[in-house]
Amino acid sequence: MYDDNPTIQHLVKTIDPMRQGEVLDYKAQSGADNGKRFYIESFGCQMNFSDSEIVAAVLHEAGYRSTLRMEEADLILVNTCSIREKAEDTVRKRLYVYNKVKKSKPGTLIGVLGCMAERMKRQLLEEEKLVDLVVGPDAYRDMPKLLDSAEEGHRAINVQLSREETYADISPVRLQSNGVTAFISIMRGCDNMCSFCVVPFTRGRERSRDPYSIIAETRDLYDNGYREVTLLGQNVDSYNWVHPETQETVTFARLLRMCAGVHPEMRIRFSTSHPKDMTDEVLYAMAEMDNICNYIHLPVQSGNNRILELMRRGYTREWYMERIEAIRRIIPDCAISSDIIAGFCTETEADHRETLDIIRRANFSMSYMFYYSERPNTFAQRNLQDNVPLEVKKRRLTEIIQLQNTLSLEHNKKDIGRQFEVLIEGDSKKSKAEFKGRNSQNKMVVFPKIPGLRPGDYVHVEITEASSATLRGHIIQNSAL
Ligand code: 5AD
Ligand code: SF4
Repeated sequence: MYDDNPTIQHLVKTIDPMRQGEVLDYKAQSGADNGKRFYIESFGCQMNFSDSEIVAAVLHEAGYRSTLRMEEADLILVNTCSIREKAEDTVRKRLYVYNKVKKSKPGTLIGVLGCMAERMKRQLLEEEKLVDLVVGPDAYRDMPKLLDSAEEGHRAINVQLSREETYADISPVRLQSNGVTAFISIMRGCDNMCSFCVVPFTRGRERSRDPYSIIAETRDLYDNGYREVTLLGQNVDSYNWVHPETQETVTFARLLRMCAGVHPEMRIRFSTSHPKDMTDEVLYAMAEMDNICNYIHLPVQSGNNRILELMRRGYTREWYMERIEAIRRIIPDCAISSDIIAGFCTETEADHRETLDIIRRANFSMSYMFYYSERPNTFAQRNLQDNVPLEVKKRRLTEIIQLQNTLSLEHNKKDIGRQFEVLIEGDSKKSKAEFKGRNSQNKMVVFPKIPGLRPGDYVHVEITEASSATLRGHIIQNSAL
């Protein structure tokens, strides 16, 4: 179904529905087992995976336990993504699969969570009767109540968005975890209103989570063997928490330092940065603290100023390049990745060439690349014409992907002969005789195992081979930070 679009194919791999269900939970769960099982699939961004872990925590508290087998579930949940039309199409297809299972096991409940909930509620519940339960991203605490009412055969829906909900007090149940790396949501929603983006509508207003709950979660993860956390937000640079009474203020730069201070062996990553908001203070915090990884995901979207203006991104190509130069100056060994949209409304060939040009100049180590997909109710849908023909969008996207692949390969080839500290995450995909892990720059490194080492250990690896996606090498020294 995604055969025509290699980028989305790549994305589907990263949102593999097999990453589901199994709970590798390091804590005794409080709720007594009610005998019921839930099965959950997550699509879309890292934030959705993180949200599924909050949902799992709420369900555990209510007595549910997870299963990896859809067929034995009493409750089948799908955490959905609305960012592009194809993401929604994928979820719809899954709903038919779940309904087949339900036919052979009547009484099974099917629930849609996340970004599609608000958009599709009526259609899904009433017109197509595909689901029993619809829960928006700010309503997960309400799930036990909604489940009771769905079990009694009532419509169960809560898509209310909140200005306050951050789930700060909920300790996520880690789903399908490798026991080494974890996500922590530090904020929810987005106030940016980029003209192409549906997120502000599906996830609501931006709010920052209490930093002390973030630190506590980081420490708890460290105590339980985790060695890397990724702080998640739609725009982490606008993180800003103000204590309701003392007015103490915590910015993102300060939060980074606080998290990095938990333990020098706990790596800190974050995503996503916004070019209009990324400050030098953040860069200095990264430069000063060894355990904040040298990697920034800084989506450019387009290299043309007129298109950037139409996208309402709040920066120009010159501003973007100045931010790139600041990163190179302050953190010389930092890898930078990007998101790019091909064929936005009114984009000309000359505009497209400017996008290719900025990709080259910024020298991204990798990018997530998409062609524009018009989304209902966005500024672009209401005010601009989606007038670049699909074949043109696809051709431009292919050119962008080809260029990025070349750059990624060049970038990785420069690493041959270098030594990196790598955090072991587990066995490599292809062989049990090899480990995989990431270096600070977020590059996947594969190397032969040495007895005595295990996931969660840091090792030094010398790189001997490079492809556009992976580095290969061998361990030169077992190390601690
Ligand atoms: N069409 C295509 N890509 C989109 N993105 C967001 N909205 C759209 C859309 N309507 C991309 C942007 C964003 C990433 C998460 O998804 O590049 O940074
Ligand atoms: Fe969407 Fe822009 Fe917010 Fe990112 S910053 S979630 S692209 S509105």
